[in-house]
Amino acid sequence: MTVDLTMVGARLRGAGLTESALLAWAGTHRLSLLPRRLSGLSARPPVPASAALSQFVAGAHLTADQLRLLPIDELLEVGLLERAGDRFHAPWSVLPHEQGLLVCDRDDAEDAEQLVCWPDDSSYHLASAIGPGRRPRWIDLACGSAFAPLARPNLGAEILGIDLNPRAVRFARLGAALSGCRHLTIEEAEIGVTHAPAALVTCNAPIPDDHDVAIWRHADRGFFDRMWPAARACTAPGGEVITHTTLDALPEELAGEAVTVAYTPPGERGYAITWWRPDAPARRVIARRMLTPIRPHLDPRDREEALQGGLPAVSSC
Ligand SMILES: C[S@@+](CC[C@H](N)C(=O)[O-])C[C@H]1O[C@@H](n2cnc3c(N)ncnc32)[C@H](O)[C@@H]1O
Repeated sequence: MTVDLTMVGARLRGAGLTESALLAWAGTHRLSLLPRRLSGLSARPPVPASAALSQFVAGAHLTADQLRLLPIDELLEVGLLERAGDRFHAPWSVLPHEQGLLVCDRDDAEDAEQLVCWPDDSSYHLASAIGPGRRPRWIDLACGSAFAPLARPNLGAEILGIDLNPRAVRFARLGAALSGCRHLTIEEAEIGVTHAPAALVTCNAPIPDDHDVAIWRHADRGFFDRMWPAARACTAPGGEVITHTTLDALPEELAGEAVTVAYTPPGERGYAITWWRPDAPARRVIARRMLTPIRPHLDPRDREEALQGGLPAVSSC
């Protein structure tokens, strides 16, 4: 059987795997808040309308009768469901994400080198930091499950995601197909490889000096020495690079205009978004904006406020 993944994605959404259903069921559609709620949610007996959420978000083991709204044969065929006796379980998570679906490892998956992380707030910071406007081409470096392109697919007429982790590449392709996102291409590549230039280049980087086994968490010693020049080389004239990194991963100098806004409190390890326009007149601003329940992630207003001097300066990285 040849399975049409876009059709499977549409059937899953039709069966209730959507952000609005997730909000009603879990009390939030912010994926980064879900892990702490999952055990309670998986214990709830599902009604047909919440079976897809129970199965693919909370990781419950359900019967064919409980899953009767889902295309079970197709899901088995593509590996999104597995049978265990009279029940089915999802080996990976399929999460409602804006209008599409994102595939990543289950929150309870054992730590492993190729683990594809459940989205955390860093994923949201990067995706929400991108200003509006459709660019001819967007490259998302270290794309993981393709959280940012799948969150904001309309920001690029053509989008390329690249990641070193072959499992992330596979999951990102699956998420793109389930979401019907045909203009998103995913390639397996090392961060230092350069690509045909794009008006927008983004990167939610791994964390330097983190000794976790998973590729998504740790950056090898030379990661940032390769990432910054590669991001510059991939940027079309007049284009923009947007990164989420720790403050200590920022280079001493960035050509052109670079605006960094940190969002962690003084005294803690700094995490920040940097908006870098290499061809703009030289300007360097480093500021801080504390997060609030109303604005829990950085966004383009923070760049504007930092440029206008409306945010407190951070003296050094
Ligand atoms: C913090 S995760 C970000 C994932 C995704 N962009 C997001 O925002 O959810 C960092 C990503 O960097 C990738 N990565 C780590 N080292 C890399 C390298 N040398 N080249 C390319 N990608 C790399 C990991 O596989 C992981 O997907």
